[in-house]
Amino acid sequence: MQELTITRPDDWHLHLRDGAALKAVLPHTVRQFARAIIMPNLKPPVRTVADAAAYRDRILTAVPAGQSFEPLMTLYLTDNTSAEEIVAAKASPFVTAVKYYPAGATTNSDFGVTDMSNCDRVFDVMQQVDLPLLLHGEVTDPAVDVFDREKAFIEKHLIPLKQRFPNLRVVLEHITTTEAVEFVLATPQIAATITPQHLLFSRNILFKGGIRPHFYCLPILKRERHRQALLQAATSGNPKFFLGTDSAPHPRDSKESDCGCAGCYSALHAMALYAEAFESADALDKLEAFASFYGPDFYQLPRNTEQITLTKTTWRVPDEVPFVEAGLVPLWAGQELTWQLA
Ligand code: DOR
Ligand code: ZN
Repeated sequence: MQELTITRPDDWHLHLRDGAALKAVLPHTVRQFARAIIMPNLKPPVRTVADAAAYRDRILTAVPAGQSFEPLMTLYLTDNTSAEEIVAAKASPFVTAVKYYPAGATTNSDFGVTDMSNCDRVFDVMQQVDLPLLLHGEVTDPAVDVFDREKAFIEKHLIPLKQRFPNLRVVLEHITTTEAVEFVLATPQIAATITPQHLLFSRNILFKGGIRPHFYCLPILKRERHRQALLQAATSGNPKFFLGTDSAPHPRDSKESDCGCAGCYSALHAMALYAEAFESADALDKLEAFASFYGPDFYQLPRNTEQITLTKTTWRVPDEVPFVEAGLVPLWAGQELTWQLA
């Protein structure tokens, strides 16, 4: 196959940041995607409908002239989020979901939830008004091995949550394990996003020839058998699994540091990376539904009508793209990819 034309995709999990960083990265997303679910982990986080409205305006202002893009906003759940805010979020035309970060789990999660049961009143209202809950599914207990934190979250928090709120629509974000795949398959009203890095790499890449900070994200890459399970899920044609890049830009010097930040930057070339992964499984015919159909179906939004074309062209991922003061290193910098957005 030399050319692949598909319905324009959406990114169901994206970090755009704010200010100069937002202006630097947004054009990369807009080239490929019509819409994206915008993560609320700014400093301070996007906690209210008013915060989301203001952030949405800043995003729309940063969209390159002549192009269109629809940011689907999320609220950052805290111990203090009120039921009234959830009702207001549901009533607003642009808040699409609520994001749960366990406090301390990842970048800018200090305002996150300290104990899931603090939010039961809010989950109850979300279930009633049918507003989806997006989960960063990792426990933060330092006694739990970093590679086991997703599995432990499913056992300790997600299974009980779905027992308490069986009709709450949940997205388990950026899944990384066979246990997550199995749980999503077995449980009603839950879907999952999958990133390009978790489809393409196992944890071995983190230490290939030395320590490689640009492959470090959270949840961290896992063993090869988990990668295989994710690739199988993504290419299976099951609508419970859809595209979410989790593209998370950090300046080069914040990654190449004695305490480097978590996050892979994939917005530059996300569709090329996914095409590479799907082709490796001989499943390019499954890419369109994963990237463009199952997400809007889950979120009860219309599918896009425009198209994009990927061509079979070898190109090299740049070492760096312009960002704030320090540059931004894209995922798999220096690697030759064989698909390119036309
Ligand atoms: O690797 C990650 N980076 N995981 C997250 O959950 C947050 C993200 C970020 O905001 O940088
Ligand atoms: Zn994320």
